[in-house]
Amino acid sequence: MEVVVLPSYQEMSKAAAQVIAGVLNEKPNAVLGMATGSTPLGVYQELVKMHKAGELDFHQVTTFNLDEYVGLPKSNSQSYHYFMHENFFKHVNIAPDNIYIPSGTTKNYRAFCAWYEKRIEECGGIDVQILGIGSDGHIAFNEPGSSLSSRTRLKTLAEPTIQDNARFFDRKEDVPIYAITMGVGTILEARTLVLLANGKNKANAVAQMVEGPVTSMITASALQLHPSAKVFLDEDAAGQLKMREYYDWVMKKKPGAPQT
Ligand code: F6R
Repeated sequence: MEVVVLPSYQEMSKAAAQVIAGVLNEKPNAVLGMATGSTPLGVYQELVKMHKAGELDFHQVTTFNLDEYVGLPKSNSQSYHYFMHENFFKHVNIAPDNIYIPSGTTKNYRAFCAWYEKRIEECGGIDVQILGIGSDGHIAFNEPGSSLSSRTRLKTLAEPTIQDNARFFDRKEDVPIYAITMGVGTILEARTLVLLANGKNKANAVAQMVEGPVTSMITASALQLHPSAKVFLDEDAAGQLKMREYYDWVMKKKPGAPQT
């Protein structure tokens, strides 16, 4: 796992956007895994900026989102369909047919989830997956206790997640309690993982993800099993890391490292 700590949310977002831009420059028809929530907004802004400056082209890109609330139609302003359209898709030249987001209103969740997994495979797998982390250590909506080999499925949200996400809704009671989410196993198959975290309320989850044991109680800890996981943090989110000085040292020494 590569841990990069940057002084601000903006710099952290820029660094993560650079990784995604690098993948797109090498592979213009790359498959991107998208996340929602507050954390990736800065990355989307950076990618949109690069697109508007003529540096990034999305017309051959395919995207798969991590998750969606069950029961919210696409038109609901709290749905992840709506979020993605408003914050990213409508600002770039992506082909609408290449956008995949789990359905929150399907009549058959099991069949939908199986189809979603199959589509990811048919599109060649995810090249780079953007991730945030929940204060309970979740990735996507893989709450504590989720199998580390889980696949896309219906999941019941945990109380801390409902509490965290209540800020987006008028009332806590309005937060859906079910979601469709990619599984941890699905996420681990992406070729590169880019996880971002900012703010003090993520510091404990981040420390457990990076330096704790691999455990289904902190599903983000599964990133330790991935051969290419990059973690971008601001100072607050890095606040509880014991090996902080080493991560900075590694980054400082990287440009001069012996080449193979
Ligand atoms: C969203 C997702 C979630 C969020 C996490 C952090 O698609 O998969 O795992 O990344 O809950 O949310 P924020 O960024 O709002 O703190």
